[in-house]
Amino acid sequence: MKNNGQDELDTEYFLLRDEDARLDGVIALHSTALGPGAGGCRFWHYPSREEMMVDAARLARGMTYKNALAELPLGGGKAVLRVPEGSYDREKLFAAFGREVEKLGGRYLTAEDVGTSVGDMQAIASETRHVAGLAQVPGRPGGDPSPWTARGVYGAMEYLAQQHLDRPLADCTVAIQGVGNVGGALARLLHACGAKLVLADTNSERLAKIATETGSAVVAVSEFCGVRADILAPCALGGVFNAVTTAKVRARIVCGAANNQLVSEADGVRLAERGILYAPDCVVNAGGIINVAAEHLGWETAEVVRRVDGTAERLARVLARADQLGVAPNLAADSLARERVKTGLVLAA
Ligand code: NAI
Repeated sequence: MKNNGQDELDTEYFLLRDEDARLDGVIALHSTALGPGAGGCRFWHYPSREEMMVDAARLARGMTYKNALAELPLGGGKAVLRVPEGSYDREKLFAAFGREVEKLGGRYLTAEDVGTSVGDMQAIASETRHVAGLAQVPGRPGGDPSPWTARGVYGAMEYLAQQHLDRPLADCTVAIQGVGNVGGALARLLHACGAKLVLADTNSERLAKIATETGSAVVAVSEFCGVRADILAPCALGGVFNAVTTAKVRARIVCGAANNQLVSEADGVRLAERGILYAPDCVVNAGGIINVAAEHLGWETAEVVRRVDGTAERLARVLARADQLGVAPNLAADSLARERVKTGLVLAA
């Protein structure tokens, strides 16, 4: 199957089913041109297998672009598993998934994503070595990648506030959608720098906890896109901006961790036409995959810091390209990523 006709690469699908372990999912492998197709494993509720496959394909393609833009020697892939109805043995389910990853012989490298944890990665590791985001060995890259993702997004935001709002982040109001692993860590970083926060999450318990900790205001999930803030940071699921929601945005900048925030390319163009700067998710949320790459490839933590802290610089290059070509930043990012995949440009550690 082609990828929405948006690029020339083919996606391979591997359907996963183990009734005994209650495993039901798919691995989508988008590209292995620059290295193993790397991307997390999402454990989520899906009404149908088709929706699972569509999500996996979009996410896998996003990983090809993200890894290429971060100059990592990795291709793009993603696993999407359906949360079973009723009771199930979590360790058994993820071990079964590990066996499926092993069958691909290293063409796909998995790690955490929405709904999965370090514990799940340990269960996967009982069956395959093609997994990262494992319990951290002190002083080495590894463990939960979310703090690194938050750090990269924060760095990009700091840069954008200064460049596009002419003030430090401390003088900005940032609205965060989803205060889970990444959004929660981002909220703490922003609170520490003195920024004002507005938070939204479907999980009211988690929301209350982070809001109390950071002294933040909260809004209903439905109000997030139109909230009065300088910066919107989508850190929940994708598909945030469509023809309706882009028209509601009052913030001047969108910069968050969620993968695939735009429903379609046209939504990035809509934001740009309204003078809203959209920092492409695949550029700013690479911190976690950088940490995953380092763990898998044996790089030092200093290398992770250097690359994650290079997020703002990589974003600046994409924005300069967008200006030069007169296109929206999401289009500039996608075209640069495709170029990189073709030319095979990666940065050795
Ligand atoms: P998470 O599962 O820890 O957190 C997601 C949060 O969003 C949860 O608190 C959930 O209750 C909330 N949520 C779900 N639907 C919502 C909605 N409609 N409105 C408001 N809140 C909602 O996931 P995590 O790891 O923090 O990831 C967040 C996003 O960032 C995802 O899109 C993920 O793909 C992306 N991402 C994560 C990376 C990582 O290192 N964990 C790396 C790169 C991207």
